[in-house]
Amino acid sequence: MAGFAPDILAGKRILITGGGTGLGRGVAKHLVDHGAEVHLWGRRPHALEESAAHASGGRVGAVRWQSVDVRDADAVDAAIQRIWDEHGPLTSLVNNAAGNFIAPIESLSANAFSSITSTVMNGSFHTTLSAGKRWIAEGLPGAVLSTLTTWVWSGSAFVVPSAMAKAAVNAMTMSLAVEWARHGIRLNALAPGPIPTDYAWEMLNPSDKSAVGATQPDQIPAGRVGTVEELASLTIFVLSDLCDYLTGETIAMDGAQRLAGPNTFAGLTSLSDEDWADIREKVRSSTAASKAQRGEGAA
Ligand code: HXC
Repeated sequence: MAGFAPDILAGKRILITGGGTGLGRGVAKHLVDHGAEVHLWGRRPHALEESAAHASGGRVGAVRWQSVDVRDADAVDAAIQRIWDEHGPLTSLVNNAAGNFIAPIESLSANAFSSITSTVMNGSFHTTLSAGKRWIAEGLPGAVLSTLTTWVWSGSAFVVPSAMAKAAVNAMTMSLAVEWARHGIRLNALAPGPIPTDYAWEMLNPSDKSAVGATQPDQIPAGRVGTVEELASLTIFVLSDLCDYLTGETIAMDGAQRLAGPNTFAGLTSLSDEDWADIREKVRSSTAASKAQRGEGAA
């Protein structure tokens, strides 16, 4: 990636939650390429190991990983302490861990709701608080960057728990930017439009019918989906020291998608109950395959 000095992130120790797959995995390598030490968290050791090998490209000590479920506050705090003890203070945190699938809200159980909201909202809170209280106690500056979506402004049909939880993280970003500015801690967020990654795309486009959702290039004014490289460029900029005055912002990067049409999955209102049953079945088999990889029993 051209543009930034290759050592622009030298001295940065960055934690990425949800770093075993998807956008977290994709961005990690670019951060390492620009001099950062990167720590990856996720639930699946195998995926984290692969992700770390990909990001480090053989650079010893450049990437570490820990299997941590961000929904568990005590586990988060213990894992953060381990980073502090074994490597030193983090400089930056990327709240990227997420769960999501498309479904009509009336079909969701309380457990389905909380499986998404507890990862996105509670998980982002636990990691932010755990790093933030250490930065404050030690008088260190810090930067938090959360991965959100443009649904934080528009809401989004058929992904209501995700829209609610990400809106909460947007509120956290704005609130703590004010509360922690005096400590030199910045909080920002990125709201990428569609950037295809394998598992998220299975979750959000499980069948031909769901292709009417606005994850399709022809429904984006820029005429294409976004790229991991573009997301990485913004991430590098925000986590570098180039603009310390930037805080409390959620930056959309979506080819103007949000300005041009209804919220992301509004087109799915045309689906029938049969279509939704089919989608649910396909999403469930993807989830079961993912669980099998994690060594858990199928749902
Ligand atoms: C209704 C469903 C369902 C579906 C699962 N559930 N899929 N309900 N319709 N399609 C229900 C289950 O029946 C269960 O409830 C509950 O949800 C929890 O399911 P589990 O599989 O036990 O949970 P868990 O293992 O924690 O898995 C969470 C998950 C899974 C969200 C379901 O997909 C996951 O771990 N995802 C992580 C990665 C991910 O989703 N990334 C995509 C992020 S994309 P009951 O009541 O039966 O127990 C994103 C934004 C994209 O965030 C932006 C694009 C523009």
